[in-house]
Amino acid sequence: MCGICASIGKENEVQDVVLGLKKLEYRGYDSSGIALLGDEKISCVKSVGQIKNLEKKIDKNLCCPVVIGHTRWATHGVVSEENAHPHISQDGQFAMVHNGIIENFEKLKTQLDVCLYSQTDTEVFVNLIASKTGETLFRLLQAAKEVVGSFAVALIHKNENKIFVAKRQSPLAVAVSKTKSMAASDISVFAGKFDFCYILDDNQFAVMEDGKVDFFDENGKKIQKNPVFIGDFDFFEETLQEKYFMQKEIKEQPVALRKEFFKYFSECPNLDFEALKKCKSLHFVACGTAYHSCLLGAQFVQQFCKKPCSVSIASEFRYARQTFSKKCLYVFVSQSGETADTIACAKLVKEKGCKVMCVTNVPYCTLEQMSDFVFPTFAGKEIAVASTKAYTCQVFALLCFALLLSGVDKKESLKNFVKEFEVLPFQEKLLKEICKFKKVFFIGRQQDYVTALEGSLKLKEIAYLNCIGIAAGELKHGTLALIDNQTLVIAISTQERLKEKMESNILEVKARGGKVLLLSNLQHNFTPEFRIDLPDFEECFMPIVSIVPLQQLAFFYSLALGFNPDKPRNLAKAVTVE
Ligand code: M6R
Repeated sequence: MCGICASIGKENEVQDVVLGLKKLEYRGYDSSGIALLGDEKISCVKSVGQIKNLEKKIDKNLCCPVVIGHTRWATHGVVSEENAHPHISQDGQFAMVHNGIIENFEKLKTQLDVCLYSQTDTEVFVNLIASKTGETLFRLLQAAKEVVGSFAVALIHKNENKIFVAKRQSPLAVAVSKTKSMAASDISVFAGKFDFCYILDDNQFAVMEDGKVDFFDENGKKIQKNPVFIGDFDFFEETLQEKYFMQKEIKEQPVALRKEFFKYFSECPNLDFEALKKCKSLHFVACGTAYHSCLLGAQFVQQFCKKPCSVSIASEFRYARQTFSKKCLYVFVSQSGETADTIACAKLVKEKGCKVMCVTNVPYCTLEQMSDFVFPTFAGKEIAVASTKAYTCQVFALLCFALLLSGVDKKESLKNFVKEFEVLPFQEKLLKEICKFKKVFFIGRQQDYVTALEGSLKLKEIAYLNCIGIAAGELKHGTLALIDNQTLVIAISTQERLKEKMESNILEVKARGGKVLLLSNLQHNFTPEFRIDLPDFEECFMPIVSIVPLQQLAFFYSLALGFNPDKPRNLAKAVTVE
């Protein structure tokens, strides 16, 4: 994963790069660093942990015309200052920051006659560049041809007032004004500084100077690129009244859904539904929480459009021996639109000549650029690693999409739902009871099964609790063996037609001494140990209603254990590596 940011100019390049890295921290926060070029000398500052640790090491008034920076999510090598970027070539000539993975780095290492100080693939890459001869751009072009894998890099040479950047399969954009040029993994870094930017395509290179940038193809031939207007993008700076972004984002869900409803039904989505209606089936693909949205999306399309649907986890889909159909619409769901596995699948589908639709939350993201149809979500910027508002907005978006595709008119009930839906305070006293259980299972059927999967993912992700979501009917096929009086089963039951089936499954749990926390809007014929009463809405809205207390449960559980729910260990917001 990782984020890179580089700046050349006469302004506050050091501060701008550090600020840029802060905006990119969602891409990883294991360690960070900057390299400064001044008086033909390269120097580095690095730190383990969040950017605020790096910031403490940098003099606030430090000036330098050429700066490259990096925030890391460890792939090769442990979290340490040695492994933190930037990396310097053994001859001291080059420094480089890199986002991506060089798959053949072990092989390249054996070909290079260098002594490495880190365990990273990036140090091999920068030494490969140093081993070439000629102009810096030429060396970078040569090295790029030899590396296998993904990269977005920023490179400096100690005698040149320039920054060289290149991209393959990892995102990179460049912006330029009269006084400075910047490169970054994400265009939000340019907000407030530039009006336009350039989004690099795979195997494109750029040479940045103070107020000037030239673009090149993989053969070193100069190319022209069209700028993208940054002003179109909703970049508002995130401010935090609550202590945590996750708390803020949970609270924002009703407003986000209202905005989404307005965008779909008052402004009308810019989608050719007549073309889409011709598809005979739909195949949804995503990772993590977005995969859970897909499971619901498939249920909505099957229910309202009566079209067959299938759902795949992106990392599985890309290696499956499968057939592709031009009559199928392939739908890729991703908050960031930068998830490596999801993008690889979309690429595969395109290569087979099939149609790609994406449901993304970040305008101009990589997935959007390669899609034939775009159905955006309007969650606004999501910063906490654990997805909350982006998930409910995806679920609502897929419900609206299914309805628009089917022609079923449910505008009034959607409108009433977004008007009435609210985030109720979490019963914190329940937390004390729940925290006593070290074994937790989430169960549900159909749409409630998806909520069970998502609820358990949240608890794993930020409270590090070993829990699983399971289809209620599957319990007796194995998992029931784990149930004893130390076990808590969180049962979600929001579908009248499946109420009795759920009751049987819950009674099977109780008969083995398991304790039950019931989340429901229905009247049940048994007494659970704990209960969260859900507000009553039409069945198709209940996945949005029932996930909220589970998001809150994970949040407060994480806090109770002394963790930072916004930045869980080992994870990053955008998973841009395979
Ligand atoms: O940006 P994407 O929606 O493609 O991300 C997919 C997953 O990495 C993401 O949903 C992840 O599972 C969340 N951190 C879960 O809260």
